Amino acid sequence: MYKRKFVPLALGLMLAAAGVAAQAAPKAPAGGYGVGRPATEAEVKAWDIDVRPDFKGLPNGSGTVSRGQDVWEARCASCHGTFAESNEVFTPLVGGTTPDDSKTGHTKALATGTVPQRTTIMKVGTVSTLFDYINRAMPWNSPKSLSTDEVYSVLAYLLNLAEIIPENFVLSDKTIAEVQQRMPNRNGMTTAHGMWDIKAKPDVQGSSCMKDCPVSAEVTSRLPEFARNAHGNIAEQNRPIGPVRGADTTKPPTANAAGAAAAPAVMPTPAEPASPAAGLVGKHNCTACHAKANKVVGPSWDQVAAKYKGAEGAEDKLVAKVKAGGSGVWGAIPMPAHAQVPDAELRQMVQFVLNGAK
Ligand code: HEC
Ligand code: HEC
Repeated sequence: MYKRKFVPLALGLMLAAAGVAAQAAPKAPAGGYGVGRPATEAEVKAWDIDVRPDFKGLPNGSGTVSRGQDVWEARCASCHGTFAESNEVFTPLVGGTTPDDSKTGHTKALATGTVPQRTTIMKVGTVSTLFDYINRAMPWNSPKSLSTDEVYSVLAYLLNLAEIIPENFVLSDKTIAEVQQRMPNRNGMTTAHGMWDIKAKPDVQGSSCMKDCPVSAEVTSRLPEFARNAHGNIAEQNRPIGPVRGADTTKPPTANAAGAAAAPAVMPTPAEPASPAAGLVGKHNCTACHAKANKVVGPSWDQVAAKYKGAEGAEDKLVAKVKAGGSGVWGAIPMPAHAQVPDAELRQMVQFVLNGAK
């Protein structure tokens, strides 16, 4: 619709531009540059398929609603739905118009907003546009593969779905002008706006500042300090490959938070663990189930340290327990065995836990 009407304008601009270029460019030698050849008549004809609102360019032919239904089901329904109502691949083609609209030539629902989504048939003012578009562009996955009579037929099917023509209507180059007189939105098109007339009201109106605008760099929201490291250091939890890196959340992003918004993304190097044993509990995945202060799957390190504070033989006992795994001390959930972890490292980790996991 708008697209179609835009063509003459765009073409005009292109020709105007070409004219300017021709003046500036050196004159082509007689006989051309020796590149290419004039398009043949058949080639020009193959491209010259536009159908205009006055039906100039419309090929002779005809089609029925019932044949159109067959074409539709075979070539169109997969994307547009059985009743051209599907919203999956494109917005619905049919729906939202009434036989009353065909009388007035204005789609009432466009004004009342009672139909949640604008369909093609609600908007399009010229039936020639539908013919032209289907003929040149549909089916989407195989444009220009329909015969002329198939285009007439499938268009008849759509028009019948939209209650514009009865089931027994034969759509042809002879009858299509009658259909134009029943198009629901035929009087709803206007060129009295800025796209066609530069003195008219523009289609698009911006209220934002366009010149000497104040630059605002105010930070209006940021992670509160208490939440900054709530999930541990994000930088340590990333895959080591690929472009995504978490920020080092152990430190404030920058000293000056206002600058933080504009600061370039840095790739933080993972922070050194506090102690080698703290590194071990990460390396052996103990931290999947244990944290310093909170119970996760297993008891917190602090709980364990408190329970065994001053208990004789606690260290040996716990090394053996972590190695063998098991349940019953803190509840029914078992800890898996860690038989593959070297004893020296197990001992280091248990000492780390018993000493307050610092
Ligand atoms: C493979 C999916 C697919 C098939 C099959 C298909 N279409 Fe489409 N159709 C689309 C898409 C996508 C658009 C929107 C294209 C765009 O705007 O560039 C569209 C747009 C249209 C429009 C224009 C709607 C508008 O408001 O601009 C019409 C009319 C149409 N199709 C009819 C048909 C007919 C008739 C057939 C069968 C002959 C058909 N389509 C087959 C995907 C399909
Ligand atoms: C899959 C979860 C899980 C993993 C991984 C895990 N634990 Fe545990 N851990 C538990 C559970 C559950 C308990 C409580 C067992 C019980 O109630 O006897 C526990 C208990 C403990 C205890 C106290 C044992 C006791 O008897 O009081 C220590 C110490 C401990 N884990 C250390 C570790 C260490 C070190 C690692 C890493 C090598 C580790 N855990 C890995 C789930 C896990």
